[in-house]
Order: sequence, then C-alpha cells, then structure tokens
Amino acid sequence: MSSELTIAMPKGRIFEEAYQMLIEAGFKLPEEVEMSRKLMIEIPEENIRFILAKPMDVPVYVEHGVADIGIAGKDVLMEQQRNVHELLDLKISKCHIASAGLPNTEMDEIAPRIATKYPNIAMNYYKGIGEQVEIIELNGSVELAPMIGLADRIVDIVSTGRTLKENGLVEYEHIADVSSRLIANPVSYRMKNERIQEIVSRLKKVVK
Ligand code: PRP
Repeated sequence: MSSELTIAMPKGRIFEEAYQMLIEAGFKLPEEVEMSRKLMIEIPEENIRFILAKPMDVPVYVEHGVADIGIAGKDVLMEQQRNVHELLDLKISKCHIASAGLPNTEMDEIAPRIATKYPNIAMNYYKGIGEQVEIIELNGSVELAPMIGLADRIVDIVSTGRTLKENGLVEYEHIADVSSRLIANPVSYRMKNERIQEIVSRLKKVVK
C-alpha cells in the first residue's frame, strides 16, 4: 500500500468548497467533518490525513513538508512567495484583491498610508505604479482604517463587496484575481509523484 498522504486544508470559508470538491472528485470522505473542532482528521479508507490550518499557514506546512499537498488561496501564495509547487487552479473561492478607500478622496501626496493584511502585495503593487507608500500591517477588519483616519487606502480581498459597501468604502484599483490552488511540497512531489498526479487528474475533472 502507498504511504500516507497529508493534505493541509484551510479552515473557515474556503474549507467547505474545497472539501466538497474532493468528494466530487471521488474521495470517500465523511460528510460531517466540517462540524467538528478537530484539527487533524484521518481517512484510513483513502490513506489520507487532513490537517486544518489557518489559510495563511497552509503554505507553511507544505513548504516544511509536514503536509505533502495543500489548498491555498492565490492571495496567500502571492504574499508569501514560498518554495511550493502550484499544481492546479481549483477555480473555487474566487475573489480579487483591490485597493479601496473613502469615496472621492485622493491619496496623501507625501507617503500615503496603506492598511493591509498583505504588506508584500501592497508594497509591490504601489512600487509597480511608482507610488511611494507607507504600509500599515493589520490582521483583520482592515476596512476600519480609512473610516477612522488610520490610512488613505486599504489593500484587501473583495468577494461580494458587502464589507466595503456596509462601511461606506469604494474600490479604486483592481490588483489581482484570486482563487484557490492545489500546492505541493517539492520533495513530496518527487517522492510521491504517482499519488499526487492521480489526485491532480481526479481534481482536474471536477474543476468548473
Ligand atoms: C475578508 C476580507 C474582507 C471581506 C471581503 O475578511 O478581508 O474584509 O472578507 O468579503 P466581502 O467582499 O464578501 O464582504 P474576513 O472575513 O476574512 O475577516 P477579517 O476582516 O478578519 O480578515
């Protein structure tokens, strides 16, 4: 029998869609798993073990090889630039990264402040358009920053647009499209290639 494969999955909103996709691809998985608080789930029938991590941490587990493969958002991959192989665009959890701020406002001319959970993406974007900015790194509720005068703009994920709308903000620039990707540890990809390729081809068939 082949050796066990460890898959790092993001907890939270991406989990449900990713898990359903694995079921559609024919993996025999229990229906109820998302209800539990367990962080490690063994699926002996498939010789698979899931570890459930914060979305930002999935590439960390995969890069260090404690997970062979994982599902990570393109936003996280762009931000972290880790040594992992990107195998497949699963085309789920689609959203985009944008800059946003209060309506009809210009950015401060001298070192405008940008609040974000994505300091590298934000820095690269503004560097690319020749703007020198000061990045203010936050861990969440980024939309607060322009409202209370902490920043001129935010750089954040926009999905339905509801968070921006409900906080009186508007989108200024579309920075990048985001969806979830299947990633692999480079060593696992070599050592467990057949097994990983099989998962890729099963998932490919259910990508919409
Ligand atoms: C994300 C993102 C936005 C929101 C966008 O936050 O940072 O705030 O979702 O979604 P929407 O366009 O559908 O409203 P998340 O829910 O992950 O919480 P956070 O603020 O704690 O990061």
